[in-house]
Amino acid sequence: MEQRARWSSRMIFLFAAIGSAVGLGNVWRFPYLAYKYGGGAFLVPYLIALFILGVPLLILEFALGQKLQKGAVAAFRSIHHRLGGIGTMAIFSGFVVVVYYAAVMAWALVFFFNSFQAKMPWAGDAKGYFFDHILHISGSVGDVGGINWTLFAALLVVWVLIYLSVRKGVKSVGKVVLVTMPLPIILLLVIFIRGITLDGALSGILFYITPDFSALMSTEIWLAAASQIFFTLSLGFGVMIAYASFNRKDQNITGDAWITALTNSGISLFAGFVVFSVLGYMATTTGVSVGDVVTSGPGLAFVVFPQALALMPLSWLFSALFFLTLLSLGIDSAFSLVEAVDTVIKDRFRDMSTKKIAFGVCLTAFVFGTLFVTHAGLYFLDIVDHFVTNFGLVLVGLFEAIAVGWVYGARRLREYINSVSRWKMGAWWDHLIRYVIPAVLILLLVMQFIKEMEGPYEGYPGWALAIGWSVVVVPLAYGLFVALSRKRLQPQ
Ligand code: PFF
Repeated sequence: MEQRARWSSRMIFLFAAIGSAVGLGNVWRFPYLAYKYGGGAFLVPYLIALFILGVPLLILEFALGQKLQKGAVAAFRSIHHRLGGIGTMAIFSGFVVVVYYAAVMAWALVFFFNSFQAKMPWAGDAKGYFFDHILHISGSVGDVGGINWTLFAALLVVWVLIYLSVRKGVKSVGKVVLVTMPLPIILLLVIFIRGITLDGALSGILFYITPDFSALMSTEIWLAAASQIFFTLSLGFGVMIAYASFNRKDQNITGDAWITALTNSGISLFAGFVVFSVLGYMATTTGVSVGDVVTSGPGLAFVVFPQALALMPLSWLFSALFFLTLLSLGIDSAFSLVEAVDTVIKDRFRDMSTKKIAFGVCLTAFVFGTLFVTHAGLYFLDIVDHFVTNFGLVLVGLFEAIAVGWVYGARRLREYINSVSRWKMGAWWDHLIRYVIPAVLILLLVMQFIKEMEGPYEGYPGWALAIGWSVVVVPLAYGLFVALSRKRLQPQ
């Protein structure tokens, strides 16, 4: 039997795991959530969710992959033959995410090419530029309006880049992350320095770091924080399981998890400073309050950053650098998702070539991705992102905790973790995995569901929301089918 592929060192594994975690979620998703939920108010639930859900589950995923030396599906199947569906749900969600994630990268690529001009074409009206010029957004989700061919071409380029990164599996990934992990961090630092020296930057920063404890009473903010933690740590997608499965069995798990989680959230918090200093500047120049300068939403990073970039000396250079940052941030997250899917396929069909698998997965994802480069693409993206992050990931997290806590045995896994890690965990981890995390996640799911029933998400029509529901319900139904069918579908 072919030997399992290996990272060439622990450092490369960490680069890959951090590369997966740190992505558009840190620079694009985190700031827009923070802005939407009132700046400082968001940080409290975010940090609480990080420590109660994020770190313990990241330890769990690392441990499962490393101990069992398998991708998500085979790992859960070896816990119990009826549980493979959890892994399928995980990689299905990952696949859905990477399909729209690549579309966001395509926006960045178009901005990148449009940067090479003496005056930034979006100077003065960054918002109009993004929505009308880049997206050519239609009036509503029902008005699909055909494909936006510029974005389509950009999406194709993005997929070629992703394919090139994953085609040799761990070997090529291990090389690419040496550049794509550190580069964006350096670039962000440069942009940060420009951001905080803008007029009014301080007012934005204060908005960002002043907690508003009254906002904590809203359940929505807790839901958003918890799902952001899943998204940002690449949890519930089978990615961290797949990556850890290429480690040697004696690698320090808790150490790796802390390094990954803290670096990742550090970068989100840092990106927040950059975005909010620019928002402060915009508020000062336009005379409105920081909370009202831009409409929040997935477009935020593509309006606020360009605006700031247009103000810089050598703006073409900084713009090009910034969009390159977004692309390099995105790419190692995107290919980690592809790699998670590939790993599962490879576990199942050992003789199939890694390149072929990678090609098939990339091509399929590209084809589905055309939905997000239509003129209504942003609406679809908003809907699918909403459902997969608020339900899909949370459900996988719940099932993971139950499978490990109650079937495999939290204590048994912890004993393994402690035997290889420097920082040893006490029985508190078992309690978190067995009781606290499932209870919290069930509560979140129920609250989210109630909210969904109270009114359509963002007022979208039923058929569009049905697409959103389908990315949750289809894999869930499949998982249940696997769990309940009498026959072992795929014997170990
Ligand atoms: N963690 C990435 C980010 O925050 O941008 C996104 C992501 C990558 C999500 C990989 C999921 C994943 F499996």
